[in-house]
Amino acid sequence: MRIAFFDSGIGGLTVLTEAMKRLPKEDFLYFADTLHVPYGTKTLPEVKRYVQESVSVIMQNDIKALVVACNTATSAAIEELRRMYPIPIIGMEPAVKPAVKRSQAAGKRVLVFATSLTLSLSKYTDLVARVDDHKVVDSMPLPELVQYCEQLQFDREEIERYFSRKLSGIDLGQYSTIVLGCTHFPYYKRILQQIVPPHIELIDGSHGTVERLCTLIGSSSLSTQGYMGQIEFRCSDENPAYLDKMARALDYLQTQYAR
Ligand code: SIN
Repeated sequence: MRIAFFDSGIGGLTVLTEAMKRLPKEDFLYFADTLHVPYGTKTLPEVKRYVQESVSVIMQNDIKALVVACNTATSAAIEELRRMYPIPIIGMEPAVKPAVKRSQAAGKRVLVFATSLTLSLSKYTDLVARVDDHKVVDSMPLPELVQYCEQLQFDREEIERYFSRKLSGIDLGQYSTIVLGCTHFPYYKRILQQIVPPHIELIDGSHGTVERLCTLIGSSSLSTQGYMGQIEFRCSDENPAYLDKMARALDYLQTQYAR
């Protein structure tokens, strides 16, 4: 049986890449909701509906676990999905807790990048209320970065200009950690790391999510031979050009972030 990954678009491939390293013998089904990407600028009822529609298609396959590799979809709908389906369903959580811990040791603040919808929902605001005792967490929505990513816009100069505009007027020296709270954002980790002061650490939730997946399915086997399973790409508008885009995006991640 396969493990399914779900995202609005190609963002979840950043999590799949991590899973391919940790679970090199597993077969994966990756489903992107291309009819409705991006999710982060839509309303909560819309996203809930899109997630339900996509997951009902995914569940028609023989799968043993589902990774909702999308922060916005997780925040909007994971509890309902868990109530509806009897298999392990793992979501994304912005890595605010470890970021706050690190910031306390460094005496600095935390900046969270995510979509507008993720930042507005109780899953995020409750998390911050739980862990941010000293009020060190700031946040910034970066909806355009999802769009850039979906267009496979990886041109360094263009992205640097975008970040410079967004971060102008912010004293980055006050931060120790930036949390990438959207699975589309790790595509830009390298570029961002070169823009921000070198002491700033960029963290995302994919490692934690894949750890949880391994625990829940009771399997983990790092391989020295690389990934040996099979991946099927699907998308809700069944556009062959998008399937090709997914393969190119995965290639990009594997060459940029090979470890
Ligand atoms: C989006 O579709 O707007 C981004 C999804 C995410 O939050 O990971």
